Amino acid sequence: MSAFNYQNGELHAEDVPLSAIAAQYGTPTFVYSRAAITKAYTDFTQAFAGREHRVCYAVKANSNLSVLALLKSLGASFDIVSAGELARLQHIGVSGERVVFSGVGKQAYELKMALEAEISCFNVESEQELYDLEKVATQLGRSAPISLRVNPDVDAQSHPYISTGLKENKFGVSIEAAIKLYEYAANSSALKVVGIDCHIGSQLLTIAPFLDAIERVLELVNELGSKGIELDHFDLGGGMGVKYQPDEEALDMNAYASAVLQATSGHKQPLWFEPGRSIVANAGILLTQVINLKNNEGKDFCVVDGAMNDLIRPALYQAWQDVRTIKKTSSANTGYDVVGPVCETGDFLAKDRKLEVKPGDLLSIESSGAYGFVMSSNYNSRNRAAEVMVDGDKHHIIRDREDFQHQISLEHVIL
Ligand code: LLP
Repeated sequence: MSAFNYQNGELHAEDVPLSAIAAQYGTPTFVYSRAAITKAYTDFTQAFAGREHRVCYAVKANSNLSVLALLKSLGASFDIVSAGELARLQHIGVSGERVVFSGVGKQAYELKMALEAEISCFNVESEQELYDLEKVATQLGRSAPISLRVNPDVDAQSHPYISTGLKENKFGVSIEAAIKLYEYAANSSALKVVGIDCHIGSQLLTIAPFLDAIERVLELVNELGSKGIELDHFDLGGGMGVKYQPDEEALDMNAYASAVLQATSGHKQPLWFEPGRSIVANAGILLTQVINLKNNEGKDFCVVDGAMNDLIRPALYQAWQDVRTIKKTSSANTGYDVVGPVCETGDFLAKDRKLEVKPGDLLSIESSGAYGFVMSSNYNSRNRAAEVMVDGDKHHIIRDREDFQHQISLEHVIL
């Protein structure tokens, strides 16, 4: 059951009316449910109870410090893709041992920082990165724990921008190249082979592509074993899909877990995962207020104060996210495009939705907890939204709304 439900005709986040959040913090505001994040994480880890595993939350999905601190308190590990994400984790006291570093373009300063933090694994994505890492590790007199991200060349059947496991994508190394690189790493005193990883894409709603990837990865694991290269863990990445549309079914975590457990039952290595979206997407909404309604040539627009700079998924991926009025309505007959104030036709949050609205009403853009705030910008010199965490009947501001001073604080007028 969702953490965002109508109670007495008004949409609540847990037990807090969203109108109270708008009144106190203004709009647009991202609102997260502590209970929903906790449940998603707990369901994930419990699905793999009985098998040694690690859930490395993909920080990129939502990197607010309070979200990270909550997951830390639940026992999560973390998957990062930049020095900035590592700095966030260090800021809240996460030890390097709980960090794995993915990403296709790690820079020398990032490798150094992660080595000094003694992270548990570098998910290496290219031959050059392996050499770069070896060099930095040698300079520091350390041995870098590595896994190679293999690209199993399977079709994740997701949006092309978020499919990553096909050979034409920029991610990982081919299975053939991986053997050679593992042999190289096994003979380097500055590198320590610890694992293998793959991540084939995001928002996968079926199990089959995961199993195809596992099958190919395990063939490689067996081949490495025959060469005397043993691995300590298998990292199966993230990508577990969530329900955005009412008629959509989220990836069934229990079915996924049992299929994965069965597929890997011949191996004793711990399984690592890198879920992002499935932990936070449906634990957050974007709360926004209607500015005005307009009709152009028979087309109805509902202009709200949230925009593509706050939530870019609809504009960038044609992503469909549900829209609900905070006050429950009874006769939503008009089909509106819900658009923001940004000067672009691409600035929409939803298209052709039946709503009963008037200026001043509040709306919830659902499923905005993942890849929402983190992808926001100051486009059109708009202040970035506030973020609030709800916990039962309490609410806490976890990021203040930006103001104009924040926006210009790094700029210099030279004329
Ligand atoms: N691990 C790696 C190496 C990744 O590249 C990603 C996501 C994840 C884990 C987490 O995947 P998840 O469980 O969240 O699907 N901005 C897009 C999604 C981009 C995903 C990028 N990589 C969106 O809003 O749909």
